[in-house]
Amino acid sequence: MKTILVLNGPNLNLLGKRQPEIYGHETLDDVARMCSEACGEGHEIRLEQSNHEGRIIDWIHEARQSACGIVINPGAFTHTSVAILDALNAFEGPVMEVHISQVHKREAFRHHSYVSMRADGVIAGLGLFGYVAGVQRVIALTGA
Ligand code: DQA
Repeated sequence: MKTILVLNGPNLNLLGKRQPEIYGHETLDDVARMCSEACGEGHEIRLEQSNHEGRIIDWIHEARQSACGIVINPGAFTHTSVAILDALNAFEGPVMEVHISQVHKREAFRHHSYVSMRADGVIAGLGLFGYVAGVQRVIALTGA
């Protein structure tokens, strides 16, 4: 059984409550359920969320041993964190970057992503389905 790490950055613990006009009414539990349903026999999901940059980096480091791929919504760290980019550069499997909202339609500061310099795929504006697409792509790249 291969593990796909689904990582979520700051404020995504409030998914469903936070700015629902942008991020919708579904929660991180819904993300976990949808991602698990997208897995076949060969893969399982480990979903994590933190508001702390260092914790996210530690999970990426752990993934070097324990995960075949990473689906990451880094939240606002997308636009600021060279440290998360460096950690992802030390991970060898596929990395899919997910944004629930269409960041390119929003403020200019959301248009640049450090994580995109490493990501093998970038999904924005598909709502929670973006996570499912990310998981499906990791499965396609790592073998069913
Ligand atoms: C986000 C977009 C980011 O700009 C924002 O800071 C988030 C969520 C998204 O999923 O659309 O926290 O990554």
